Amino acid sequence: MRNLGRGSRTAFAVTGIPGGTDDVEAALLRTRLIEAAKEFSGRGGPRPLTVTVTNQPPGAAESGPRAGPTAESEAEAGPDEPSIAERARRFTATPPLYTFDRLVLPDRTLDQLLRAVHTVEQRRVLFDEWGLREIQPHPGSAINLEGAPGTGKTLAAHALAHRLGRPLIPARASQLESKYHGEGPKNLAALFHAAREQGAVLFLDEADALMSSRFETTTHGSEHAVNAMRSEMLTALDSHEGLVVLATNLVTSYDTAFDSRVWHVRFPAPDEAARAGIWRRHLPEALPLAEDVSPEGLAGVDEVTGRDIRRAVIDAAAEVLRTGRPRVRQADLLAAVERIKAGRPCRAAPTPMSMSGGPG
Ligand SMILES: Nc1ncnc2c1ncn2[C@@H]1O[C@H](COP(=O)(O)OP(=O)(O)OP(=O)(O)O)[C@@H](O)[C@H]1O
Ligand SMILES: [Mg+2]
Repeated sequence: MRNLGRGSRTAFAVTGIPGGTDDVEAALLRTRLIEAAKEFSGRGGPRPLTVTVTNQPPGAAESGPRAGPTAESEAEAGPDEPSIAERARRFTATPPLYTFDRLVLPDRTLDQLLRAVHTVEQRRVLFDEWGLREIQPHPGSAINLEGAPGTGKTLAAHALAHRLGRPLIPARASQLESKYHGEGPKNLAALFHAAREQGAVLFLDEADALMSSRFETTTHGSEHAVNAMRSEMLTALDSHEGLVVLATNLVTSYDTAFDSRVWHVRFPAPDEAARAGIWRRHLPEALPLAEDVSPEGLAGVDEVTGRDIRRAVIDAAAEVLRTGRPRVRQADLLAAVERIKAGRPCRAAPTPMSMSGGPG
């Protein structure tokens, strides 16, 4: 990252997105780098900030559009282009893997999730019998789960589908952009089509790639692609009637157009009580445990997410089996979770987040 410091303005040029990176993925990286640079500069005071993110070598960073085709130039449909219905066949619904009893979250967060389920379940009464369709012709329901990695967002998406008795179609934003640039919006439309056809809950991970703030200058083909994806996303959300679950690790960079369309639910890092609950749910009946194992004691190890706890249990059990011992002891679990903490790359631990809810 170079600070190009011009006068009172702070200007960063960030290079390093590899040439072959997917357009949408590259744009996602750009958004994240811009967020990081803003946060970094915020610590230095309120100076105006310009951030340029590019895969060009230093010096060429501001030399204009990237060489190569843009989203538009390659967007034209070929004669063999698949229809939306044909594309939709690529997305298959699967039965949900998890239920709500596996999920440990603050009551308020659980309540926000269950309210979304309720609105979907009661759609016929609300929108048809009570006439709300008059003011909302397409009563969809979209919730955006925001939180650090490993805090239970994917688990919650499965639990929501399970509660509704629906299958789930999981997809990642980066899957939608194919090697033919400009196909992303069509694939996104196809994904919604598939959810409709299969009566499925749609689970879209990395949703920040689809809902990020509009790029002000669209000199990069990939940014055109992202703007087109965002427009398609708005259209799709407005006309979809099922539950759409979005997930992201990023909280700050959404386009305001999504505020009134999406419920935002923040997933906090687990506090001690939540960690005890998560440990308890990760010690299956059949696992041979020594008498001294105590979820409350294990919960004393802080700065761990649910995913760390799952890894620690598997790691400890494997180690016990490898060393030919009959039971998993508290010390095995503690050693495993400490190994996982020690093996983490050096970065800030997830901080507990405040909760927010309801459409903005
Ligand atoms: N809040 C939680 N309650 C219970 N288990 C949890 C929780 N959070 C994480 N886990 C455990 O960790 C596993 C991984 O979590 P999950 O995949 O849902 O995280 P995520 O928030 O989707 O992460 P990412 O942002 O990396 O996709 C879960 O399947 C579960 O075993
Ligand atoms: Mg996930």
